[in-house]
Amino acid sequence: MPQAVTAGPVTEFAEDVRTGLGKWGQKEVPFKYLYDAVGSALFEVISLLPEYGLTRAGERILRKYAEEITARILSPVIVAELGSGSGKKTRWILEAIARRQPTDYHPIEISHSALTMCRRELEHLDSVRVLGFEAGYLDGLRKVAARRQEGQHLLVLFLGSSIGNFDRKQGEQFLRRVRRVLRPGDAFLLATDLEKPVSQLLRAYDDPLGVTAAFNLNVLARINRELDANFDLSCFRHAARYNAQERRIEMHLRSTLAQKVTIRKAGLTVAIQEGETIWTESSHKYSPQEVIEMAGRAGFECVGQWFDYEWPFAQNLLIPA
Ligand SMILES: C[S@@+](CC[C@H](N)C(=O)[O-])C[C@H]1O[C@@H](n2cnc3c(N)ncnc32)[C@H](O)[C@@H]1O
Repeated sequence: MPQAVTAGPVTEFAEDVRTGLGKWGQKEVPFKYLYDAVGSALFEVISLLPEYGLTRAGERILRKYAEEITARILSPVIVAELGSGSGKKTRWILEAIARRQPTDYHPIEISHSALTMCRRELEHLDSVRVLGFEAGYLDGLRKVAARRQEGQHLLVLFLGSSIGNFDRKQGEQFLRRVRRVLRPGDAFLLATDLEKPVSQLLRAYDDPLGVTAAFNLNVLARINRELDANFDLSCFRHAARYNAQERRIEMHLRSTLAQKVTIRKAGLTVAIQEGETIWTESSHKYSPQEVIEMAGRAGFECVGQWFDYEWPFAQNLLIPA
């Protein structure tokens, strides 16, 4: 049973960990905490793994169709990217737009190190100025929107199928919130990973080298480092599961024995049973038609979909309806 051991001021991280691990039933840690400096570096390695086709699929589409996609975007435009990561594949879109006009690009990231990687990756592009925001998705987007000048349109990028980290209802709600920030003439390029054989998905999220396992376990190491906790990482195993009803991959950390862990800065001591899991991330998979319908309910019209067939994946161009 979770026990409070201290009271006092807590950070948002401590508060979220206290709520997530102090729950009755399924314990969880919000996925955004996977991305500290170590997590962001590990994610870069994951994107290179042969089993994880998602990042390369998204990039193949952008490389092939950037001109066609950006031809549908009104000028002058400024670009915001939600959770840019290292921004490697964004260059195809920025280069296509920068051929028409000088371009301000605003990556929005909660990970300081991802933002630094992104700046290094893209600041040398011709006619592109990079001004990043270390912020949450919507806070950052509102800040970017407030900077635009009269007559400037806004293109929002959400690449890498990060929408899939939200459950379907929250994902739709998130689209609705993005829609509220946009005006007629703006656009939203939304990447979605599509349904594919379960065996292929399980390999992608549980690679034989163990990089995804390290990425997942790092969240406990981060809690140890930042919240003065005593998780013993050798007593947890990475587990990737396909939830057929929800059509999503779930990442969990399974305890190999009954144990008690204290997270001092969250004021929490928690008992974890043998076999019990901490849920750390979901990755929902979509059908192309589902994306059109979800976007429609959130106040967007889907005006284009571009596909990768090697690793089923879609880039969807949405405009305010
Ligand atoms: C799955 S990675 C995708 C990175 C990149 N867009 C790509 O396609 O490879 C998700 C990125 O979003 C960032 N992120 C996660 N939650 C966030 C939030 N609430 N606000 C801002 N950035 C967030 C993470 O730091 C990470 O770099």
